[in-house]
Amino acid sequence: MIEFDAVKYKQMVKEHHENDEPFSWCDSVYTDAQGDYKAVFWADLEASPYLVKWLEENKNQLTSNLQDKKAIVIGCGVGDDSEALSDYGYKVTAFDISPEAIKLCKKRYPNTKVDYLVADLFDYDKAWLENFDVVYECNTIQILPGEYRIQARIAMSNLLSKNAHILVSCRSREKNEKKDEIPLPLDYEEINKFVTDDKLKEISFKAYNDNQTPSIPHFFAVYKKEV
Ligand SMILES: C[S@@+](CC[C@H](N)C(=O)[O-])C[C@H]1O[C@@H](n2cnc3c(N)ncnc32)[C@H](O)[C@@H]1O
Repeated sequence: MIEFDAVKYKQMVKEHHENDEPFSWCDSVYTDAQGDYKAVFWADLEASPYLVKWLEENKNQLTSNLQDKKAIVIGCGVGDDSEALSDYGYKVTAFDISPEAIKLCKKRYPNTKVDYLVADLFDYDKAWLENFDVVYECNTIQILPGEYRIQARIAMSNLLSKNAHILVSCRSREKNEKKDEIPLPLDYEEINKFVTDDKLKEISFKAYNDNQTPSIPHFFAVYKKEV
């Protein structure tokens, strides 16, 4: 395993952004783990408690045709959130731009029901458009620069079928602070573009500090496509 060096990592990402290569570096985070999913520095190694809480609170809405409910996980990393959705009965597609991430998922969950695949959020199968009941996004927008963040959000919203939900989990910041941070957390105006620009309805919105030391501010939002 290659030891994580935060300074080198941020410099590497910055250089890729400057060269307009917004995510070609992602695979290196997984290859550096050298086959050990536990060594991926950004992986929490457990499903988001906010995702699990939402799944628990909403399981009764999923009636007898549960197996037909489809979820998709953006930038699925090492798979914890994808497996949680699958455990609650969703038919899950989970994708990542990193072939090594997908390899780690398949090795970690040899008997999984999740369809793990390499795909690009900016160039996914057109059959996915408006085809999912739940879209789950955790920490992908925040690693992207500038215009790619807008395109990413739109690509995510475009996956929602009518009455579908998107759950968005990310680091957060106050407007105009931490402008050069890597990853760049979302401010309220940016995350709220799911409402103002993509015309989704806000179902719930939580701002919280995580339990790291020092703690890091986050948002967890649920939006619904009603039109
Ligand atoms: C910060 S990581 C978060 C991973 C995971 N969601 C988690 O919470 O642990 C962002 C993920 O997005 C993936 N990613 C970046 N750009 C992508 C793209 N264009 N299409 C699909 N996945 C992408 C990266 O490879 C990485 O796994």
